Amino acid sequence: MKLAPLLLTNIGQLLTLRSVQTGPRRGPSLVDLDIIQNAAVLCLAGKIVSVGTVKEALRDPWLKKHRKKVTEIDCGGHVVLPGFVDSHTHPVFMQPRLVDFEKRIAGADYEAIAEAGGGIRSSLAGVREASRLPLTQKVLSVLRELARHGTTTVEAKSGYGLSLESELKSLEAIRAAASQWQGTVIPTFLGAHVVPPEYSGRSQSYVEIVCKEMLPAVAKRKLAKFVDVFCDRGAFSEIECSTIFGAALEHGFAVRAHLGQLSSPKAGFIEATLECCRPTSFDHMDYVRDHEVTALAKSDTVVTFVPGANYFLGLAKYPPARKYIDADVAVALATDYNPGTSPTVSMPMAMSLACTHMKMFPAEVISSATINGAWALGVADRKGSVEAGKDADLAIFDVRDYREIPYWFGVNRCVQTIIGGVALRSSA
Ligand code: NIG
Ligand code: FE
Repeated sequence: MKLAPLLLTNIGQLLTLRSVQTGPRRGPSLVDLDIIQNAAVLCLAGKIVSVGTVKEALRDPWLKKHRKKVTEIDCGGHVVLPGFVDSHTHPVFMQPRLVDFEKRIAGADYEAIAEAGGGIRSSLAGVREASRLPLTQKVLSVLRELARHGTTTVEAKSGYGLSLESELKSLEAIRAAASQWQGTVIPTFLGAHVVPPEYSGRSQSYVEIVCKEMLPAVAKRKLAKFVDVFCDRGAFSEIECSTIFGAALEHGFAVRAHLGQLSSPKAGFIEATLECCRPTSFDHMDYVRDHEVTALAKSDTVVTFVPGANYFLGLAKYPPARKYIDADVAVALATDYNPGTSPTVSMPMAMSLACTHMKMFPAEVISSATINGAWALGVADRKGSVEAGKDADLAIFDVRDYREIPYWFGVNRCVQTIIGGVALRSSA
């Protein structure tokens, strides 16, 4: 079916996030949103073809000639920005973890609950017992919810199956859901989320299964772009993470890690890993030392903050965003949507938390949630900014000033999401 050309007009503030330099935004460039007032965007065949003021658009000879064929959206003076790139989610699970939720309210902490058999391990049964179809439906409903909040590109991890069969089933569910959703999904294999109970006390044997059985099977079926490891106290050690990264790179995957969420990584690990494995992203990173910040600033690895996890675990401590930004580390923001630490689909909520608890400015959180999220997934050539040639993925917010996006917390001000040049129906 041929896609009708789409014109967004009467945009009060268009946040283009255009950039002259290549690479993720760092330091002062995070606040440069390149805003056009009273703007218009023309999209053709799923791509953005021109961006400018309404006046400029109306002078466009192509538009003058074809105006009747063009679907027009009057944005009513609202704010338009690139669709969010949520570069860290765990959508393949069946049940919420309500028992853990109440245990934490009663005073237990995340690690103690996990040691007692709760946490990630308590989500395994639901995934292992489910067939692919209900998992697919679950993932698809999450993708649709994300889109309703302005997200158009999503990284989706496996990691609640933790057996060859259930990890493949989880990644297949991601693939099946992605094929029914208009947005873009980047799949990640997280077989090394925790050691499953049947390997308790034998983590090395499980790592061997991950490297020798799971990774080759995922690679053969082309089910993932990234391999992720939860490298922290109670999950996988630095040595185990390095082993898995080595195998992942041999199979052609790019790598990323959950790191520094509960404890500091072993001294030297960050520097060595940057050198050997060029991870696309290190996520959480609440615990970091000054020399590690310096090493990260010299690398292209993106540090992805997920403050929803700190909020939901009721922590007082948040990642030291200012330290990273002031040192010129490339930073991104994501929801970390998952049943244990961050059951939210709202990028604006993550952005609000980053402003209030991490002292990031609204412009910094916008860059981190769009163009730098795209860098954190290796898709910045087509996502994350409103520029001619990029995919026509946009979000319209019912606000007059972009700073209102993280300001109005707890409500969804996204009134329209456009993916590949098509406006989503509210039921989509
Ligand atoms: O990003 N830290 C590891 N993984 C998730 C939590 C997963 C879970 O508790 O289910 C996170 O916080
Ligand atoms: Fe996570």
